[in-house]
Parts: sequence; C-alpha cells; structure tokens
Amino acid sequence: MPTLLRIDSSVSPESSVSRRLTEAFARGWEEAGGAVVVRDLDADRLPHLPCRGLHFPHRPGVPADLPEAALQDAVIEEVFDADALVIGAPMYNHSMPSTLKAWLDYLHVPGRTAPALPGDPAPLAGRTAVIISTRGAAYDDPALEQEADHVVPPLRVLLGTAMGMEVEAITLDRTLADMLAEVMPELDPALAARLFAEAAERAFARGRELAAALAG
Ligand SMILES: Cc1cc2nc3c(=O)[nH]c(=O)nc-3n(C[C@H](O)[C@H](O)[C@H](O)COP(=O)(O)O)c2cc1C
Repeated sequence: MPTLLRIDSSVSPESSVSRRLTEAFARGWEEAGGAVVVRDLDADRLPHLPCRGLHFPHRPGVPADLPEAALQDAVIEEVFDADALVIGAPMYNHSMPSTLKAWLDYLHVPGRTAPALPGDPAPLAGRTAVIISTRGAAYDDPALEQEADHVVPPLRVLLGTAMGMEVEAITLDRTLADMLAEVMPELDPALAARLFAEAAERAFARGRELAAALAG
C-alpha cells in the first residue's frame, strides 16, 4: 500500500484553502487504496535550525543530546518512508510560511537527503512531491508572478534540483476574492469559486492517479 506524506503549513486551520486542497489530494489517494501520514507544521512547529552542524551529514559540532537532532531524524525518516508528498504551501508575504521553511532546513542535508557532490546518487530520487500553493491575490501577468512568487521556485530547487524528486505544482490564486471583493473587484469571486472547484478536482484526481500508479 503506497504511503502519502501530507504536509500542511497554513496558519489558519479553520479557513485554510491549501488545507482543503491537500485534503482533496489525500482523499483521492485513499480512494485508490493508499495510506496517508499527516505532518501539520503549524500545529507542531519545528524550532528554527539551532546550529549549522545539522545541515551536514556528520553533524560537526552538534552536541550528542541536542533535541533538534532527534527532530531532524524524525523529519527525514518520514520523508524516506513516504512514496510521495503533498505539500500545502500558502503564500505569506511573497514567500512560504516560516514553518515550512524550517521543515526544509531540517530536511535538506547534502550527503543524506541530497547528493553530497555533483554526480552522486540522490537518495530521494523518484519520489513525487506535489506542491499546493495558494495565493490571495491574482498573478495573471507572468512578469509579476516571476517577481512576486518566492514559494514554488525555491521548493522546486530544493526538492527537485537538489534532492532529485519529481516536483509538480497546483497553484490557486484569488483565494481572498470574497474577503476583498469590495476593494479589489478584479479578484472576481465567481471566477475564484470556479478556479477553486477546478483545483480541488485536479488535486483529488492527481492523488488518486498517483496512488493507483504506485500500487501497481
Ligand atoms: C501573513 C500573510 C501574508 C500574506 N501575504 C500574501 C502575499 O504576499 N500575496 C498574496 O497573494 N497573498 C498573501 N496572503 C494571502 C494568502 O496567500 C491566502 O489567504 C492563501 O489562501 C493562504 O493559504 P491558506 O488559505 O491555506 O491559509 C497572505 C496571508 C497571510 C495570512
């Protein structure tokens, strides 16, 4: 049975759009017979990386009893135990939530989760990571998107280029259309509702398809 690691990082559990989409993905995954493990980075926040030694495989200068070293082992094992990842990545101030960034800081260890040297094998190669990115505003102009989005590109570089995973992204804009309709009518609540429904359907279908493919 394939295992999905579902990661959420929105700070708004009640109203979160990214959580609704990771939930849809996980439902599709379960419908195809897969198991889901959840890591809620907002409910269980990782501390900021306490020292540079945790970024290196031999942990230079890290005291043996440093509690963050055990946390890092748990983060890394969870990813190795998963067949695929779905990552809720809301845009906060044009970047990712700091809780998600902390998770990346724990996960990326050259020589352990990524090749130590160019040409070395990537231990996590072959896993698929699906990023679900939600943004309150609209980024219809590609030039604006390139300048303003610092959520998906770094995740692609870290998980894909550095760790060798197959990275996909489902990005949903206009999530604040209802709240801001009076001041930003261009967000267009009717369009926003349609885009949400499409993204939820896409997430569900991709979860189901991926789990079915991995189940063989
Ligand atoms: C602290 C904070 C900062 C935000 N910054 C941005 C931003 O820079 N650009 C944007 O389009 N939306 C921004 N938003 C709106 C969120 O991206 C939007 O509400 C999104 O749906 C958040 O995901 P969630 O619904 O899963 O929490 C911000 C929201 C918060 C709470």
